[in-house]
Amino acid sequence: MSVTVVTGSASGIGAAVREQLKQAGHRVIGIDRQHADIVADLSKAEGRRAAVASVLDACGGVLDGLVCCAGLGSTAPSSSLIVSVNYFGVSELLEGLGDALARGSKPAALLIGSVASVHPGMDKLPMVEAMLAGDEAGACAQAEAMGMPHAAYAGSKYAMTVHGRRKAVEWGPRGIRLNVLAPGAVDTPLLQASLADPRYGEATRKFIAPLGRNSTPDEIASVACFLQSAQASFVHGTVVFVDGGMDAMSRPDRF
Ligand SMILES: NC(=O)c1ccc[n+]([C@@H]2O[C@H](COP(=O)([O-])OP(=O)(O)OC[C@H]3O[C@@H](n4cnc5c(N)ncnc54)[C@H](O)[C@@H]3O)[C@@H](O)[C@H]2O)c1
Repeated sequence: MSVTVVTGSASGIGAAVREQLKQAGHRVIGIDRQHADIVADLSKAEGRRAAVASVLDACGGVLDGLVCCAGLGSTAPSSSLIVSVNYFGVSELLEGLGDALARGSKPAALLIGSVASVHPGMDKLPMVEAMLAGDEAGACAQAEAMGMPHAAYAGSKYAMTVHGRRKAVEWGPRGIRLNVLAPGAVDTPLLQASLADPRYGEATRKFIAPLGRNSTPDEIASVACFLQSAQASFVHGTVVFVDGGMDAMSRPDRF
């Protein structure tokens, strides 16, 4: 039986991925702040270390899959929390679980990014440079100084995607596949919070995908399960947009 870790397993996309992987026969180890097999706070270094230790204990040091869904949107309490969860909550789990994945059977990792990561100028942000350098304090300070939580969100997703693609090149020879799935607007509590926020509600409502609707968490989870399956055995290091056409609408000439 494949053993797969899903972060953010208590809600939204992570909960849908957890259920679909279970239906596909995986043993799922869920991580979240509450209502999970492993309760951990991925915004803190000690929480990430404890999560990694608990996973290694639960899987006996051999892991077949990792799906990183835990994340915070622009309405999070602070920009630094967005950076800590969305970037370091992913990069440090990859670091801590890489060896266990290398011992797994046809191992695969998947990071949930966002179509927001293609927003122009993300590669020029000092906070992104700090994230990619592994400087959490510096990245958080830069994000707070900008005072734009939506930029912290897009920047964290851009940096996480770059980190994932670099990791894919490193991990290919170890036999570990790694991809990024970039959703558009998905009906989850995170999106509901943006819609209800006076700063972001109108823009969120107006940003409508060419398909004319938001996706359900299950529509994201089905692609996540495919990417984690043997059917996707040569899909590696890529960014798969599951966004109803938002990326094509934003930048039709870049791909
Ligand atoms: N909903 C969307 O429109 C949308 C669009 C693009 C990308 N995404 C991404 O999808 C992922 C899942 O989001 P969702 O929409 O399902 O949101 P959600 O709020 O329903 O689920 C996020 C989960 O992450 C967990 N989490 C947050 N901070 C954590 C922490 N410090 N430690 C442990 N767990 C923590 C939450 O408890 C929650 O269960 C996120 O990375 C998000 O950025 C969502």
